[in-house]
Amino acid sequence: MSTGKRTSQGPEVVLQLLRSATDPISGEKLAVHLGLSRAAVWKRINRLKAQGYAIEGSPRRGYRLLTVPDKLLPEEILQGLQARYLKGPVHHFETLASTNDLAKDLGARGAPEGTVVVAETQTHGRGRVGREWDSPPGVGLYVSVLLRPQLPPEELPQITLTTAVAVVRAVRRVTGLAPGIKWPNDLLLDGKKLGGILTEMESESDVIRHLVVGLGLNVNNPGFPPDLAATATSLALAAGRSFSRVRLLQAWLEEFEALYDRFLRREFPDILAEWKRHTVTLGKRVTIRQGPREIRGEALDVAPDGALLLRQDRGEIVRVTSGEITPGSEENPGA
Ligand code: BTN
Repeated sequence: MSTGKRTSQGPEVVLQLLRSATDPISGEKLAVHLGLSRAAVWKRINRLKAQGYAIEGSPRRGYRLLTVPDKLLPEEILQGLQARYLKGPVHHFETLASTNDLAKDLGARGAPEGTVVVAETQTHGRGRVGREWDSPPGVGLYVSVLLRPQLPPEELPQITLTTAVAVVRAVRRVTGLAPGIKWPNDLLLDGKKLGGILTEMESESDVIRHLVVGLGLNVNNPGFPPDLAATATSLALAAGRSFSRVRLLQAWLEEFEALYDRFLRREFPDILAEWKRHTVTLGKRVTIRQGPREIRGEALDVAPDGALLLRQDRGEIVRVTSGEITPGSEENPGA
């Protein structure tokens, strides 16, 4: 595990200098600049190499950073991130059962708002309504962010919709692709699932104690296993090229922070208006599954508090705050 906040002169300070240098820097210069011994500099260079940074070192000319690894390393995520509080500490893992599970644990143990957990792969990635989230290594974004809103749990549906708008904005900004939103916060591209968000909260005496927002986004997946191939897609499959997962994550953190600030300033109506511009659900006949129960009807609108308004066949309008729109039913192909 690596984490974004360090107190000592860790490898990240060496990395910073190498990044900003246009010419190679000698070990001696690095040592003097950082107040470290040459051996200590060498140790940090080796640690960076072990993380996947390609660093050229020549005894005469010094060290030069050639390439950075295609990993969601804290140093890469924090580099240039324009966020005030959704900026770590960043906990990065090669393999984790579920980033949401760890973020919830950290939340219960008092971790600060803005704590980020990322993994290159998850062994038990969880989706909404008890589904699994396929998390192959190195190609997707599997990330969870910890929030501490001082709000009643009833406001959760609004935050849920807000998270999806942030993903749409981030994907558009980085890739130019425009995903649609399936209520409440599934991301679709060409009618197939591109990403999903699992929001989980811990509440006490009618106040949210902490909230974990977990995003799974199919970024560079070259394809999907047979059971998902018909219903899932990735940004790379849609665009025919790959994208930086670091830039996507930075963009999501930045857009989410901006929107979450607006939500806290009671500007949810504007966010909802944006959500409605991107949704593929409204105006369609849908089937919503809530455990064993199914509700059918026309998705009329979303209420100001984030609930879906459904007109049932008998004409009755019901409010739905949770559940899953069944994909691929005859009435509702993939919507
Ligand atoms: C969905 O069912 O659409 C939601 C999928 C959410 C998956 C993400 S991946 C990162 C985080 N950790 C998890 O275990 N789940 C969420």
